[in-house]
Amino acid sequence: MLLLEEEPRSVLPRSLKGSCFFQSEELSSVLTQKPPHTPVMLKEVLHYLDVQPGQVVLDMTFGGGGHTKEILNMVHEVTVLALDRDPTAISLAQQLAKEHSGRVKPLLGRFSELEALLADMNIKPGSIDAVLLDAGCSSMQMDEAQRGFSLSKDGPLDMRMDGERYPDMPCAADVVDTLDQQALASILTAYGEERHARKIASAIVKARRVNPITQTQQLASVVAGSFPAAVLYARKDRLQRPAHVATKTFQALRIFVNDELNELHAGLRAARSLLRPGGRLCVITFHSLEDRLVKRFLQGDDLSNLDQYHFSPRKQGAGKGKLLDEKRDGGSVDWLPLRRKVITPEKDDVKDNPRGRSAKLRAALRR
Ligand SMILES: C[S@@+](CC[C@H](N)C(=O)[O-])C[C@H]1O[C@@H](n2cnc3c(N)ncnc32)[C@H](O)[C@@H]1O
Repeated sequence: MLLLEEEPRSVLPRSLKGSCFFQSEELSSVLTQKPPHTPVMLKEVLHYLDVQPGQVVLDMTFGGGGHTKEILNMVHEVTVLALDRDPTAISLAQQLAKEHSGRVKPLLGRFSELEALLADMNIKPGSIDAVLLDAGCSSMQMDEAQRGFSLSKDGPLDMRMDGERYPDMPCAADVVDTLDQQALASILTAYGEERHARKIASAIVKARRVNPITQTQQLASVVAGSFPAAVLYARKDRLQRPAHVATKTFQALRIFVNDELNELHAGLRAARSLLRPGGRLCVITFHSLEDRLVKRFLQGDDLSNLDQYHFSPRKQGAGKGKLLDEKRDGGSVDWLPLRRKVITPEKDDVKDNPRGRSAKLRAALRR
């Protein structure tokens, strides 16, 4: 039965509502203790994926396994293919695979590598029943100072989700150290939607002439130094809490280092190819650049000129009249939306875990 526009049922106990992000935990304890698992919009994801016994689910962003664990608990005889580009996440998936023999198949790789990984396992296009893509970083990544994602904890300016898997892949310190001022400003504008991109890029270039910027706190100070002291925390997040002026710079660098928008696009195309007709897709995103991309993809825009899309985010309105394969139900030849409007977390969920406050869920059925 089609669930278009239907509200999610309240299927979960209160304790399981919340965000996918872990609370503050060091990596070592994440591996040795049972991690807290409060996935973002869990109730809504379970509702829209509507997983049935015997089905094959693809969790493209295993992370701490919060969503996967709940799917395994709720549905018998389900098989979960658990992808993540982060070897730490895959260690957790391997642990879970031992506990649920045969039901979890860990896959180390990126969205852009997924189809090749599945072809090696003889999993054919059009054979998956449900796909979840919960974009962005996990708290395991954010809270571990050594990973270099955090603005508030000092650590090496790294930000590579793949960890050491690709030693030649530039980390955030390499980007900050080597790109010219104009390129840095473009990254901050395109991926951070930072209004003061040129000012910040100029401050970075000046500072690195004196000392290379290798630490997260060092970068935060350089960015802060380009603003008057009075405005350091003048920006507010969606909960009206003070946000550091370097927040957008960190977001922009992280997206650039991990090529996150191209990866998201590759992930959506993989989902389209892997889902069977009638299969379900849930995508959770955490900022407007990602959500715009998902929305347009589900409306039928193949986004083949993604480079232009990246570097002119403000021009996106211009493309609205040109959507390909647009259907009157708001979907496309490939997708039927299960809910026309974007789904956001309930107020209580945001209160329980503010990190999930900007989450947006889109759910669609593969035609
Ligand atoms: C928000 S977390 C997922 C949390 C998970 N749903 C849970 O409940 O624990 C996102 C995860 O996706 C992974 N990821 C992000 N981009 C990826 C990509 N392009 N390919 C594979 N994994 C990716 C990250 O390494 C991270 O572990």
